[in-house]
Amino acid sequence: MSLKLSVIGTGYLGATHAACMASMGFEVIGVDVDQMKIDLLAQGRVPFYEPDLEELLTEQIKSGRLTFTTDFKAIKDCDVHFICVGTPQVKGGNAADLTYVDAALEQIASIVKAGSLVVGKSTVPVGTASRLRTRLIQVNPDVDLAWNPEFLREGFAVEDTLRPNRLVVGTTSDKAEATLKQVYAKNLADATPWVRADLPTAELVKVAANSFLATKISFINAMAEICEAAGGDVTVLAKAIGYDPRIGNRFLQAGIGFGGGCLPKDIRAFMARAEELGAQQALEFLKEIDSINLRARQRIIELVRKDLTDDLTGKKVAILGAAFKPDSDDVRDSPALDIAAQIQAAGAVVTVHDPKAIANAQKRFPALNFAQEIEKTLQDAEIVLHLTEWKIYRELDPTKMKSLVKNPIMIDGRNALDRTAWRNAGWKFRALGVSEELEKK
Ligand code: UGA
Repeated sequence: MSLKLSVIGTGYLGATHAACMASMGFEVIGVDVDQMKIDLLAQGRVPFYEPDLEELLTEQIKSGRLTFTTDFKAIKDCDVHFICVGTPQVKGGNAADLTYVDAALEQIASIVKAGSLVVGKSTVPVGTASRLRTRLIQVNPDVDLAWNPEFLREGFAVEDTLRPNRLVVGTTSDKAEATLKQVYAKNLADATPWVRADLPTAELVKVAANSFLATKISFINAMAEICEAAGGDVTVLAKAIGYDPRIGNRFLQAGIGFGGGCLPKDIRAFMARAEELGAQQALEFLKEIDSINLRARQRIIELVRKDLTDDLTGKKVAILGAAFKPDSDDVRDSPALDIAAQIQAAGAVVTVHDPKAIANAQKRFPALNFAQEIEKTLQDAEIVLHLTEWKIYRELDPTKMKSLVKNPIMIDGRNALDRTAWRNAGWKFRALGVSEELEKK
């Protein structure tokens, strides 16, 4: 008999997981405390931008397999319950805020049926799963809890959930593993690597992976600083080291660094947890990873000052991109938006464009100017900053864009534009990690 699943928490992770599991043929109930979110999802509407998700959601709702509710009792007949709630950074500290995870567990503990399995997917500090499992069994002795971290990327959420590059399951119970093998039978048939671990290791896999990715980005951004100082070009350096398969060429895109709701808060929460465990020295390096990352934002502002004038008062600055990365409308800890706000705070008149993230950006920084059209954003600009590498920006015609601006100065904060094309059209083109001498050539 097919398993019946519930998904607790219908944000990025939960909504995607629910829709994807339904598309694999399971009956799925999505539950959230947020009535507005549930109402939207129930109508097949996704409250954020994620390619392909809305289509999949609508299709699965129509099939009858996928439903949404705020009534937790609705999950009582489900066999497997996925906890997908958020674990943001605590206000005024570095640790993860576990309020939502704890509340989710409390809400379902006495409802879930005997023999069912609760599966954590949220990113949590190591030790959380074991604590939750103890609590769950205390309330409901006939259930078990496993940990199954999620590695989906925003912008590729559907693809990553349907075709993950590995599945990690934290449990010491063969029964729990067998249940999850049933859930992921399709992936296993596709030969997706399956890693069984204990609870703490499964929790650690997630934060270790994000720390490694953050380290890769900050490493290349550190090299960018050296290239600028030594007269080199970080894009060539990245390409050259990336040919070594031990290094690999992905996540070596130098620029204004990482942001979003995961990498920055995860490395901080990891450091905070290591400190609690008395192992802070092991993660001291992550402090440096964080500062290199934040420094990139300052370095681009320095470039603006160098290319315009130290005093930015009244200067017209156009910014292309507000989302923390392309194909997302997420502006949480967005480097682009942070830079925009800082330049505005320095007295400049900043206009920001983004194909999807303007509404979210506006909520966070209502004092910034936003434009729906690229042409309007660039009109009379004294400098243009490319800060989120949306495809539409790479497709811009530099000659046409030059006719709009006051000064044709482009600073590419993502090393993603075709420098030669922009230079040939008469732009002064600058990028992070490329020395000024090289830029002048
Ligand atoms: C990240 C991880 O990549 C996922 O595997 C993980 O599941 C997710 O966090 C999570 O914990 O939920 P995501 O936050 O969607 O995914 O974004 P990434 O694609 O990792 O990009 C993070 C940031 O790094 C972006 O701001 C991006 O612009 C920046 N980045 C990425 C660079 O600056 N350079 C690069 O070479 C790559």
